[in-house]
Amino acid sequence: MKIRRLANEERPTTSWRLQSYAFEPSPTQPDEVARFHDFLPYLADSITLVVQDGDETLAAVSAIPMRQNVRGVVHPMAGISGVASHPLARRQGHVRTLLTQLLGELRDEGYAVSSLYPFRPSFYARFGYAALPQPRTVSFSPADLGEWLRADLPGELRLQRIRDGYDTYRGFTERLVASRHGFCVLPDSRAVHLRDDDKRWLVSASHEGEVIGAVTYRIDDHGGTLRADDLLTVGPLGRALLLQFFARHVDQVARISAIVAADETPELWAADLATHTESTVAFPGAVAPMARLLTLDGLHGLPTGPGRVRVEIVDDPLLAGSYLLDGTDGQLTVSRADAPALPAATLTAAGISALVYGVADPDDLPLRGFGTVPPSAATQLRSLFPRTTPHLSTTF
Ligand SMILES: CC(C)(COP(=O)(O)OP(=O)(O)OC[C@H]1O[C@@H](n2cnc3c(N)ncnc32)[C@H](O)[C@@H]1OP(=O)(O)O)[C@@H](O)C(=O)NCCC(=O)NCCS
Repeated sequence: MKIRRLANEERPTTSWRLQSYAFEPSPTQPDEVARFHDFLPYLADSITLVVQDGDETLAAVSAIPMRQNVRGVVHPMAGISGVASHPLARRQGHVRTLLTQLLGELRDEGYAVSSLYPFRPSFYARFGYAALPQPRTVSFSPADLGEWLRADLPGELRLQRIRDGYDTYRGFTERLVASRHGFCVLPDSRAVHLRDDDKRWLVSASHEGEVIGAVTYRIDDHGGTLRADDLLTVGPLGRALLLQFFARHVDQVARISAIVAADETPELWAADLATHTESTVAFPGAVAPMARLLTLDGLHGLPTGPGRVRVEIVDDPLLAGSYLLDGTDGQLTVSRADAPALPAATLTAAGISALVYGVADPDDLPLRGFGTVPPSAATQLRSLFPRTTPHLSTTF
């Protein structure tokens, strides 16, 4: 048996056989095979490892080279996808071997973090991933947005097919990845699929020449629903302009739905706006994202609160070791200095990842089996990594 990295053109005869068996209706038909070939250019930058026994591919894991904002700093991020093994080769440890090797190679190549949408969180928890909040879907009637219809707002709206507005949208997501915790972007080679697929409208809001809001959407029918993807804005005016745009669909659609961050409060967007906001988690179809650190040394310089603590990371091939985390200057310094007098915690990779991504309090960690955190260390970790809500885009 051998493990190797695939060249892009090898995918159709190797990894795709497993991935299409795992994720597509099957057996695949000839026209679907042609569709896979058409998709190859969008995978030009993806990295895939396979384990092979002779000519037979037994398991595959892929990583999309993305970028993600973690507490204000943009890091190379490995977006894991296409994890599948042959049905006759499952539960033999092939995916454990492949994923461990892939994450290690990517860490060595400069990837600081990794995110994914799991089929089942307990599977990826074994690989050090921590669960992140599920985005919400809000739905409402455009008739309830009358307040915004009448508002005299500065700024302009522009409606385009995504094919024509793609550069505007991409530029805006680049702005968001620079400023929003958790937000991530695909590499150019993959992102352009949204443009080429051309199955979305794009409405963008601008003020004084700068894009301040954008959302892609589809309309399913007259009298039906306007289904918006991630509602992306950089402030109240951008959101108000997009809501005003939605309000203009009052005679056209019965409902509007949009995806918003887990900490968004749509019920405050307008008076008399009746909203239904929900997040569903179900396996394997509706899953919340997960993320993990691939390095702690690579987080040097991360904006933090004040705090000094020793952490021992255990049970993880990538992070295992002793670290001194120092945020005294408001920026994280990571060293191996020995400081026995400082408070100390023992954490798993999922435990330190949950803290850095801002989704856990130190007191949660022992209860979840993510480590041992004495009160003195909890105080320091709570100050270093205050709770914050990551918002990944759902177009992963
Ligand atoms: C899920 C899947 C990829 C696992 O592959 P595999 O080769 O059987 O995995 P491994 O044998 O390497 O198992 C790795 C670990 O996960 C555990 N595991 C396997 N399947 C699991 C499951 N469904 N839920 C929770 N844990 C699971 C194993 O016990 C093992 O644990 P350990 O190493 O700590 O003892 C495979 O069953 C598959 O292809 N499923 C269909 C496609 C799919 O759902 N892919 C995931 C997309 S995100």
